[in-house]
Amino acid sequence: MPDATPILPGRVIGVLGGGQLGSMFATAASRMGYRVEAISDVADCPAAIHCDHLHVGDYADSAFLERAATACDVITFEFENIPASAGRALTAAVPVRPCPEVLFTTQDRAREKEFLTSHGIPCAAYRVVRSRDELQEAVKVIGLPAVVKTAAFGYDGKGQAKLSSLADADAAWRSLGEGPGGPNTLVCEAWIEFDCEISVVAARGLDGATLAFPPSRNAHANHILDVSSVPAGLPEAVLDEAAALATKILTSLGVVGVACVEFFVTREGRVLVNEIAPRTHNSGHLTIEACDTSQFEQQVRAVCGLPLGSTRLRSPAAMANLLGDCWAQGEPDWASALAVPGVSLHLYGKREPRPGRKMGHLTALAPTVAEAIERVTRARRVLRRG
Ligand SMILES: Nc1ncnc2c1ncn2[C@@H]1O[C@H](COP(=O)(O)OP(=O)(O)O)[C@@H](O)[C@H]1O
Ligand SMILES: [Mg+2]
Repeated sequence: MPDATPILPGRVIGVLGGGQLGSMFATAASRMGYRVEAISDVADCPAAIHCDHLHVGDYADSAFLERAATACDVITFEFENIPASAGRALTAAVPVRPCPEVLFTTQDRAREKEFLTSHGIPCAAYRVVRSRDELQEAVKVIGLPAVVKTAAFGYDGKGQAKLSSLADADAAWRSLGEGPGGPNTLVCEAWIEFDCEISVVAARGLDGATLAFPPSRNAHANHILDVSSVPAGLPEAVLDEAAALATKILTSLGVVGVACVEFFVTREGRVLVNEIAPRTHNSGHLTIEACDTSQFEQQVRAVCGLPLGSTRLRSPAAMANLLGDCWAQGEPDWASALAVPGVSLHLYGKREPRPGRKMGHLTALAPTVAEAIERVTRARRVLRRG
């Protein structure tokens, strides 16, 4: 049985990873009276700005991790590509929430898909492949178009290729399958002609209670999340199905904390799981302004063994990511963007605005979701100079 004693304000929360999710988590935790110690492999990271202390070292160095852990009362994550061995090294010293097994399952697409199918949770037809011939075979069974993804370390569409022919499959094997240290494991899945994509951020407390945020509708550009909006504008039955699947996933995985489930909604209104992130999510950023409790405060509550907060939507809202591309013509025109009614700005403190790099986001509230999307995309348009 896990220790059910709540970790109260004044205590220390450790967060593994130093990116913007860790930074927004630190802001929420610090406002609630916690001390936050971030653990990162780089010193100059977004979390460094808002945490009380930053431990810098190698995630594979278990002595470093154990040292950092001794300063903390509980440890959580802000990104999942941390060696599961690192998580396990920490559990000896301090409660780790969610537990490293959750990370182990969700950081590998093959294991994640196996988890989904073994629990009867719908996802795209797929095959796990470890050679050129297995990929050819998989494409014949699954059909075309298909998409092939590296099992490990993919994000923002990296490590993926769409296949329209068997020749594409050979090219994809050469670029994704042939690793320097031997063949990589790939997942080949059916291409889904979806009506839209949605995601559900949900939390599960130490007592097993679960609560989902309202599903958000997500539009991607170049495989990177572009705009999220809530309400998602889909039939109640579709939204309920997504929330029920997300809750089932958190419970089956034994998550204590926050996780996000991404879905495809097919033209027939079927809901298929795309992927699981065992942490807060970019599509949940709008909860900061739009919900009674933000996804970051919810993570604090869940990992500290406190009651989960209300996920009620206070207002229709939309979020637009600010990629490094917004800096192409120089420093963005912040004043013009902030002149748009209902708009809030979040910048992550990253110095180098590289194209495709998530530098910050805008959130807009409005009386309707259509107006929220109009406001947030207008604000993003006017901040680009030239
Ligand atoms: N099987 C698929 N069918 C159709 N579109 C897909 C499929 N898999 C991925 N995509 C598109 O690519 C995007 C990124 O893929 P995803 O698996 O979520 O990887 P990432 O880790 O990069 O977010 C998805 O949000 C979706 O737009
Ligand atoms: Mg994704």
